Amino acid sequence: MTTHHPRMDILSRRIHLITGKGGVGRTTVAAALAVAAASRGKRVLLTEIGDPEGGFSAIGRKFGREHLTPDPEPLGPSGLRGCHVWATRGHELFAHSVVPAGPLIRAALRSRTLRKFVAAVPSLYELGVFYHLLALLQAEHADGGPEHEVIVADMPATGHTLALMRLPEILLDALPDGPIPRYMREGQAYLNDPAKGVAWVVALPELLPVTEALDLIDGLRETKVEPAGVILNRMPDDPFDPEERRELAAILAEQPMHGALGFQQMGASCEAGKRLRAGTDVPIIELPDLPEPADGRPSALLSELCLRLADLMETT
Ligand SMILES: Nc1ncnc2c1ncn2[C@@H]1O[C@H](COP(=O)(O)OP(=O)(O)O)[C@@H](O)[C@H]1O
Ligand SMILES: [Mg+2]
Repeated sequence: MTTHHPRMDILSRRIHLITGKGGVGRTTVAAALAVAAASRGKRVLLTEIGDPEGGFSAIGRKFGREHLTPDPEPLGPSGLRGCHVWATRGHELFAHSVVPAGPLIRAALRSRTLRKFVAAVPSLYELGVFYHLLALLQAEHADGGPEHEVIVADMPATGHTLALMRLPEILLDALPDGPIPRYMREGQAYLNDPAKGVAWVVALPELLPVTEALDLIDGLRETKVEPAGVILNRMPDDPFDPEERRELAAILAEQPMHGALGFQQMGASCEAGKRLRAGTDVPIIELPDLPEPADGRPSALLSELCLRLADLMETT
């Protein structure tokens, strides 16, 4: 079953947060959305939130590289760059903006002890991530426009994402006026304005993931981040209409045969999709379940998903 989706105004938004449970295809969807936006002529930055020294980069691997750095680098497709959003970089940038004593601060922030401390104070970690993201949003291109017209962020696990989004309000309540509240307000101007920043919830068409997606939509709304839509990923291709489906179900009940499991899964995915539609009014975009690429390289999968997403984008 292919659903026709109306065109959406995706490209005018500066920042897209790709959220959802691990394993649903968050990284794949983030990469496909970024490639799609770049193919529509935007200067796009695809970011991954985390520690660039902590092993490989999931985003990097979609483009045949093991690592990303905190500085944007070309990723291959024209117009697309990628980087890590890194709390430590955020702390450095922030420290710089407050006290112009660069090297000293850098040395201090890179020390192991301090990093342990930073990791143990949750909002301090998030503060760094937030500030690095803000700096990337505010970076200017030589033409006077933004260096990164569209930023797509592969977000961390749901709990971390919501903690990050709650940060501005918490700090604005807790701190007297000063540099931190000031940049929190600047951040809010992007993230709490649906014309500038939105979140996408990636989900699989199964019962539990759909329930989790609905909870996440509520969670995002509580943090005043607009859920622009659910991306229902890995929707199996379903060639049957409801009548055929009933007939086939009756036959399979009498005579179990090869393929019955796939048919049941198709039905279950359909039900999960219906439940999602009944549970929310946000737009739902279906992406197909594609065969794993034989050569183990994600590029074929990525370009197929990218085509579907680019198709939805209203040109601005
Ligand atoms: N639409 C799809 N069709 C087929 N395989 C997919 C699809 N989306 C994601 N995958 C595969 O599912 C696995 C998990 O995807 P990934 O994007 O890494 O998930 P997450 O970032 O949510 O943990 C990867 O092997 C990826 O290639
Ligand atoms: Mg991932």
